[in-house]
Amino acid sequence: MRLLKKALAVGLASAMVFSMAGCGAGSKGTTAAPEATTAAETKKEETSAETTAEAVKDAVGGDVADKKVGISIYKFDDNFMTLYRTELQRYLTEDLGFKKENVVIQDGKGDQAEQTNQIQNFITQKYDVLILNLVQASSAPEITDMCKAAGIPVVYINREPDTQEEQRWSDDKINATYVGCDARQSGTYQGEEIFETSNKGDINGDGVVSYIMIQGDPENVDAQYRTEFSVKALTDSGMQVKELLKMRGDWDQAKAQQIAQDALTQYGDQIEVIFCNNDAMALGALQAIEAAGRTVNKDIYLVGVDALTEAVQNVIDGKQTGTVFNDHFSQARTAGDMAVKFIKGESVDNVNMVDYIKVTKDNAQEILDKLK
Ligand code: GAL
Repeated sequence: MRLLKKALAVGLASAMVFSMAGCGAGSKGTTAAPEATTAAETKKEETSAETTAEAVKDAVGGDVADKKVGISIYKFDDNFMTLYRTELQRYLTEDLGFKKENVVIQDGKGDQAEQTNQIQNFITQKYDVLILNLVQASSAPEITDMCKAAGIPVVYINREPDTQEEQRWSDDKINATYVGCDARQSGTYQGEEIFETSNKGDINGDGVVSYIMIQGDPENVDAQYRTEFSVKALTDSGMQVKELLKMRGDWDQAKAQQIAQDALTQYGDQIEVIFCNNDAMALGALQAIEAAGRTVNKDIYLVGVDALTEAVQNVIDGKQTGTVFNDHFSQARTAGDMAVKFIKGESVDNVNMVDYIKVTKDNAQEILDKLK
């Protein structure tokens, strides 16, 4: 009977968690990168959060409020990861019932050595579960072994460790998992957005789509796959392409603005498409495009990824051709759910993927409404 009650509670908790993840409602996003977020700053969700927390409490056979979650974000000064961390903190404390003081979020400051120290401190202080956005995904084997030795489960987010490492977790029954999106999908959507324009990206009609590619940091699979699959979507559709320039902009608006400005000076009208691995860089590229007197969707195309509020608004206003929604609500909630599963001692798949959503003028308003 007791077991049945527990099973029902688990079912209820996950059903509610997943139906909430699906509805996309959540805290109000901001694309500025504040120093730090507190749960009190985030918008309270008008849902049955309390009931969910109760169900989770039943399911874990105790109160998660006493469990400690250590989180480290690769750097706070990143537009997309700021939205993600705000939602993660809100979900853990408001919906899942963790105590605010037991959810500690550290800034990795883009420095792997510093982040490794933070993780070491979480381990020394006997945190119950860690949620980690690594500075360098290639550090995953070392970090995983540290956590494993201490018996602490780890949920990796956003920066995907390689498949060999993910396979090791399931082969060796290590309590580690990855929550993210398949970056190939986002790249493909970007290429499709260009192919679906009236001239398939070939604005000057010379039979070739000439583009520049502004990349994130090339160590990151998101940057690698978006770069590769955006172009592949065009060539798979039979288009000829010419890469005029490929440069790293490290996900950063100001760096991308400079790259686009220099490229527009050097290549001028030859540039028909600017692919940016994310929206922060697309916003920078747009500044350069406007300063050069060019007009998006008329004499140049521009695409990004993430669906930052400004970028989606630009899609509506015709100042950005398209973007791709990198669903931080569902990713943050799945990461929180996996942390609870580990605490409950349940088995967790080694990889948990959330879908991207293509954003064009047709659905941009709908996506913007979700973000608000
Ligand atoms: C990507 C996102 C970028 C940046 C990066 C950090 O998924 O599109 O904007 O936040 O993660 O790893």
